[in-house]
Amino acid sequence: MREDYVHGYSEVEAGRLADQANTLSNLLHDGTKYPAGSKVLEAGCGVGAQTVILAKNSPDAGITSIDISESSINQAKELIRENKIVNVEFTRADLHNLPFEDKSFDHIFVCFVLEHLKDPLDALNNLRRVLKDGGSITVIEGDHGSCYFYPETKEAKMVWECLIECQKRFGCNPMIGREIYPLMTGSGFKEVQVQPKVVYVDSSKPELVDGFNKKTIIAMVEGVKEQALDMNMVDNESWQKGINDLYKTTESDGVFFYNFFKGTGIK
Ligand SMILES: C[S@@+](CC[C@H](N)C(=O)[O-])C[C@H]1O[C@@H](n2cnc3c(N)ncnc32)[C@H](O)[C@@H]1O
Repeated sequence: MREDYVHGYSEVEAGRLADQANTLSNLLHDGTKYPAGSKVLEAGCGVGAQTVILAKNSPDAGITSIDISESSINQAKELIRENKIVNVEFTRADLHNLPFEDKSFDHIFVCFVLEHLKDPLDALNNLRRVLKDGGSITVIEGDHGSCYFYPETKEAKMVWECLIECQKRFGCNPMIGREIYPLMTGSGFKEVQVQPKVVYVDSSKPELVDGFNKKTIIAMVEGVKEQALDMNMVDNESWQKGINDLYKTTESDGVFFYNFFKGTGIK
């Protein structure tokens, strides 16, 4: 993954990931609780935004959280310390070359990571190798093709398309949510079940307007401004109008819809 990519390693992006995780924790972590004594691998923990939720929901499981980025792991360690969490250990590791014995873990959790990988099937195959027979995997991803909003203007749609195009040009797959089922079954996981996790926001839900529309979605679009302008996808004036129009979804008659996908499977 490129260091300058929107889902990269800036402080702004770290804050966005934390807002995203906190806003969506009930929706995405619903049903994800691991038994006492079980060994859980969190793959691609980033700055620890999901790690904190995982650890609090399964306080008696032992969680190993890995990421390829040393600086993200350091931030995650700090977050875990601040939250006085004691059941997580961190290792720097590449999903494509995991430094663990076969069948080392009872459960695996992967959130918002496969979208960034050039070969997500290889990553899943590697994860499957380190999972015990009968162990579970949980995979959560977004799908930017699932998004629509009101009011919808040409420019608002254009900046959203810029986000998709920038992510594709950096080798990511912003539509990977719909591929979770074929990827998981393709990797050999059994009993694969994928649930759509719908986020529907209108002004009757002010916490979601703030945490999702503004701090998760619009923040993510604003993160590609430089790249979109550099690559001449849009001019500055249209960009600004598009962002202003997206903010109209946060007003009293605004509406926003997005679909995450959560897949579970067994080895
Ligand atoms: C968008 S972040 C998601 C972090 C966290 N799971 C969350 O939901 O907040 C994606 C993470 O995947 C990590 N990553 C990307 N490629 C990786 C690889 N090959 N091995 C391990 N981690 C990787 C990145 O460093 C980054 O921290």
